Amino acid sequence: MPLTPVLSRRWNDRESWTLAAYERTDGYLALRKALTMQPDEITAVVKDSSLRGRGGAGFPTGMKWGFIPQAKPGETSGPGLKPKYLVVNADEGEPGTCRDLPQMMNDPHSMIEGIVIASFAIRAHLAVIYVRGEAVHALRRVRAAVAEAYAAGYLGNNVLMSGYDLEVVVHPGAGAYICGEETALLDSLEGYRGQPRLKPPFPAVSGLYSSPTVVNNVGTLASVPPILLHGADWWKQMGPEKSPGTSVYSVTGRVVRPGQYEAPMGTTLRELLEMCGGVREGHQLKFWTPGGSSTPLFTDEHLDVALDFDGVAAAGSMNGTSALMIFDDGDCIVRAVGRWIKFYAHESCGKCTPCREGNPWMVQILDRIERGQATEEEVDQLLDICDNILGRSFCAFGDGAVSPVLSSIKYFRQEYLDHLTPGGCPLDPARVGERALAGSRS
Ligand SMILES: Cc1cc2nc3c(=O)[nH]c(=O)nc-3n(C[C@H](O)[C@H](O)[C@H](O)COP(=O)(O)O)c2cc1C
Ligand code: SF4
Repeated sequence: MPLTPVLSRRWNDRESWTLAAYERTDGYLALRKALTMQPDEITAVVKDSSLRGRGGAGFPTGMKWGFIPQAKPGETSGPGLKPKYLVVNADEGEPGTCRDLPQMMNDPHSMIEGIVIASFAIRAHLAVIYVRGEAVHALRRVRAAVAEAYAAGYLGNNVLMSGYDLEVVVHPGAGAYICGEETALLDSLEGYRGQPRLKPPFPAVSGLYSSPTVVNNVGTLASVPPILLHGADWWKQMGPEKSPGTSVYSVTGRVVRPGQYEAPMGTTLRELLEMCGGVREGHQLKFWTPGGSSTPLFTDEHLDVALDFDGVAAAGSMNGTSALMIFDDGDCIVRAVGRWIKFYAHESCGKCTPCREGNPWMVQILDRIERGQATEEEVDQLLDICDNILGRSFCAFGDGAVSPVLSSIKYFRQEYLDHLTPGGCPLDPARVGERALAGSRS
């Protein structure tokens, strides 16, 4: 499939992040159209487009907007009368994921236009953009773009003289992976320590300050203006019926030209490897993540899996954030998984025992395996710990953390066992050198 820039179409333009550049390329035309429509008509178009959230779970966006309770004539109490909020999830913490930051750096107005349209559709008058704290460069850029949008009348009181008011606040997080989980994000926004909330109630009913709230990812919102401008049918022409549109695939690791490749949903890794020059010369693909480190690993058997929500699920993993981290035959599976589990152990919010205790235990075992100090029983113990985390944790973080462990043992159990000799990792460059030397002497 060819490259199909929709979200990334302005990224290479001169000073693409400015309002002037955005307006030169259809910027804010979709908003002008939206303001002539009824809010529910906009939601209907988004529903009809079958747009699914780009934050990882792939929840249908129009349906999410439709869950926001709206006041009915004569109603005097109930959630429909509360203020409504839009919260933009710009936390982007999933290892390997790198598409929201480039979107905000190169084309922040696409997200802002999506925010105004979405807020108008759900009848919100306050939107908050929650940006990952470490991404100071993105924070500055988004703040500058929001200021430009205010000055031009796209935000604030009486947006484009339509009578509609919208305030937008840009809020930096403090840099915690769990604050990307929508309810932990809301706690963090309210000034509490970021920890997931019990669901239900879902944010659509009781979100920010216990009011109806839509939480949407940056890419989800940036997809809204082109859908509104060109129509739901145009969007549905790209990709499969149940996951239409394009996806910005982040291809990183052992490839010749790592980067962001936007292509129709359902593109395969084989096709993406052709675009990015293939795996580094002299090496073979070994394993890869289809959607970040929280999604079960794939191997070279999965080169032709359609990379969309349903295609990846049918092959036993998750589309997640379309973050493809590519590893080749020079990379050690135990080392890669060990690094990811260190990340999860560090980022666990500590609210529930299986995740808080299980991840550090797995770190210890993986370290011992890597150093050649473990036994085969400990490999099985990893499976046992995963069994106690999976489905028994308070939020999806726990299930995500066990994904690389379970899938790596499924596909590479023998490589785990090959580590259980003095000296540990058979792919450690020092040991590879020793063996080569021993071979040349014999
Ligand atoms: C541990 C964890 C981390 C998450 N991090 C992010 C994130 O950084 N950005 C994001 O958009 N969604 C993240 N999500 C998903 C959000 O909870 C939520 O589903 C998403 O923001 C909804 O937006 P969407 O419907 O537009 O996809 C995370 C989920 C979990 C469980
Ligand atoms: S699974 Fe439990 S400890 Fe881990 S991040 Fe979620 S709530 Fe926190």
